[in-house]
Amino acid sequence: MKILITGGAGFIGSHVIRLFALKYPDYQIYNLDALTYAGNLENLKDLEHLNNYTFIKGDITDENYINQIFDKYRFDAIIHLAAESHVDRSITDPLAFAKTNILGTMILLNAFKNLWKDNWNGKLFYHVSTDEVYGTLGTQGLFKESTPYDPNSPYSASKASSDHFVRAYGETYNLPYVISNCSNNYGPNQFPEKLIPLFINNIIKNKPLPVYGDGNYTRDWLYVKDHAIAIDMVFHKGKNTETYNIGGFNEWKNLDLVKLLCDVMDEKLGKEVGQSQQLITFIKDRPGHDLRYAIDASKINNDLGWSPSVTFEQGLLKTVDWYLENSEWLQNITSGNYQSYYDKMYLHD
Ligand code: NAD
Ligand code: TYD
Repeated sequence: MKILITGGAGFIGSHVIRLFALKYPDYQIYNLDALTYAGNLENLKDLEHLNNYTFIKGDITDENYINQIFDKYRFDAIIHLAAESHVDRSITDPLAFAKTNILGTMILLNAFKNLWKDNWNGKLFYHVSTDEVYGTLGTQGLFKESTPYDPNSPYSASKASSDHFVRAYGETYNLPYVISNCSNNYGPNQFPEKLIPLFINNIIKNKPLPVYGDGNYTRDWLYVKDHAIAIDMVFHKGKNTETYNIGGFNEWKNLDLVKLLCDVMDEKLGKEVGQSQQLITFIKDRPGHDLRYAIDASKINNDLGWSPSVTFEQGLLKTVDWYLENSEWLQNITSGNYQSYYDKMYLHD
């Protein structure tokens, strides 16, 4: 089986690539990634020697190029993760999100349709999406697969739109698909613009920890490797045209999470308890900030037998340890050096 994984040089994609390439030596895994600021091939250094893994540099919004590589490799399945993924960036540059997340997804769907429309047997388009498509919850309730879409940010609106196009291709062209909508991920290799790695980096550097508003926003956090395991299960056992919500059963108010992270960091760095908390700085709120996300993951739990393998406390410790042990990775990311890795590794002839 030839599987195209898009966005594999990013945070979640790199964990999915590693899991698939190592667990399924008979699959050919192709990682298609444009290497935007969020793509970092250093995330996949340990896999470069594998002969079932191939990196392809390319942009999903480049229709001619996508059609060419689909003709060349004739992928049997796609796990689509490539996206612009950061809400704050979507507020300053919404069009970039429409282009990659909506148009890019459509170009992939179209190329896949053109390749297999006469025989869909054994083919699958797996679209990886977010719980943010459901909008915001009040203090009660959980997102179910049947919750109506109600996105609030340009990021979530673009992901919601891409989900709709996947369904539309299923209805219109019989394209076989599954979609999963996951809560906030954390763990190794996350770009330090998202809450947890940004704050780890700032604590190491003794810089302020910018908390939006009063910090009373709630997110449901899942360890990234548990998301990759869920993607493996949905890919292999998910039912055609179904959606699966994936979450950590693990809600935290931002301020409580940040305080816990500060305490863990104090201990790891040998600082006096309470020292890092002094870096907390409340800043002007994010526009359109969703109050609360929380996932009801009972469907994937009951139907596919998935549940998170680590608690939040365990996952957070693993995450902090990883960032402290990989200071070179963090240094390369924050200095921009990681962007020359592709040139060094792939353009040396
Ligand atoms: P990320 O920003 O870390 O990685 C995105 C990857 O996509 C990068 O490697 C980037 O180079 C690549 N990319 C971006 N534009 C591209 C383009 N036009 N063509 C080809 N490649 C391109 O994102 P992530 O956090 O790993 O998220 C991956 C997917 O999971 C996204 O679809 C996101 O919406 C979804 N998701 C993320 C979370 C989360 O908490 N991070 C939660 C639920 C769902
Ligand atoms: P983020 O990691 O950007 O994920 P998302 O917006 O997709 O949930 O943010 C998680 C929460 O943390 C969100 O409520 C916004 C908040 N936040 C801050 O308070 N300060 C920050 O610097 C960042 C990046 C996020």
